[in-house]
Amino acid sequence: NGLDLRDSARQVPMVIAHRGYSAIAPENTASAVELAVLAGADLIEIDVQMSADGQLVVMHDTTLSRTTDAPRRYPLRAPWELARFSSAEIATLDAGSWFGLRKDPGNFAYAGEPVPNLATILELLHGRAGLLLEVKSPALYPGIELAIAEALEQAGWVVDGQPMQRLMVQSFDWDAMATYAALHPQVPVGLLGNPPQDEARWAEVARYADAINPSHSQVDQALVDEIHRRGFAISVYTVNEAARMQALIEMGVDGIITDQPERLHALVHGG
Ligand code: G3P
Ligand code: CA
Repeated sequence: NGLDLRDSARQVPMVIAHRGYSAIAPENTASAVELAVLAGADLIEIDVQMSADGQLVVMHDTTLSRTTDAPRRYPLRAPWELARFSSAEIATLDAGSWFGLRKDPGNFAYAGEPVPNLATILELLHGRAGLLLEVKSPALYPGIELAIAEALEQAGWVVDGQPMQRLMVQSFDWDAMATYAALHPQVPVGLLGNPPQDEARWAEVARYADAINPSHSQVDQALVDEIHRRGFAISVYTVNEAARMQALIEMGVDGIITDQPERLHALVHGG
């Protein structure tokens, strides 16, 4: 269920696909999410922000320029801040061609792929795989925590306050996570970034958070043990090399966030 922050039956970390299967399809698109499900990911990580008209949009950057054709379509609207575009405008953008231009040169299989909204991804994953929902730059989007809570309820992911399938909401903005946790106290919450540095801060975050999710570069055995001793789970980002995946598996982390979910799945569950 939603509170199961580890593969408790097998005592192995969760395979978490970063922005979907972003090594082989454009990040944060329905195709990347679908491929991650097919790769056997336990959780699919996506980034969520809010359009000018208050719709929840799946995108990593706060501007539309890197992963869509907004600069060509709207040349006078630099720097193409997502918050200044309507959901109708965003829905007509091409979020796939950049992949063939810059990430996997020549691969235009995803040309025309739209920017999904959160509801689309919730429907796609419903009953199939879990979700690691990152609330990106919430300070730019007043009210986004409530909008996310309502979207999860409307999609049937949270019923009577209870998560219906594996779900964690996370952010680098810990205040936003405290706000969200007050709305959905039964949904696991993850804090991205470096762990608390003093006892007072640990005590404060223990009131609302369930997981500490740091960069893998900050993680060693002592930190994994400390986080567990304090009663939190730990998932680490973003790990693409097999040797580093293996080291983190042996340290006992609860989840590994990766652009390469098949590679991680093979290490965790056998090829
Ligand atoms: O899931 C954590 C990771 O996605 C955080 O970094 O920049 O890829 O959102 P970023
Ligand atoms: Ca993210």
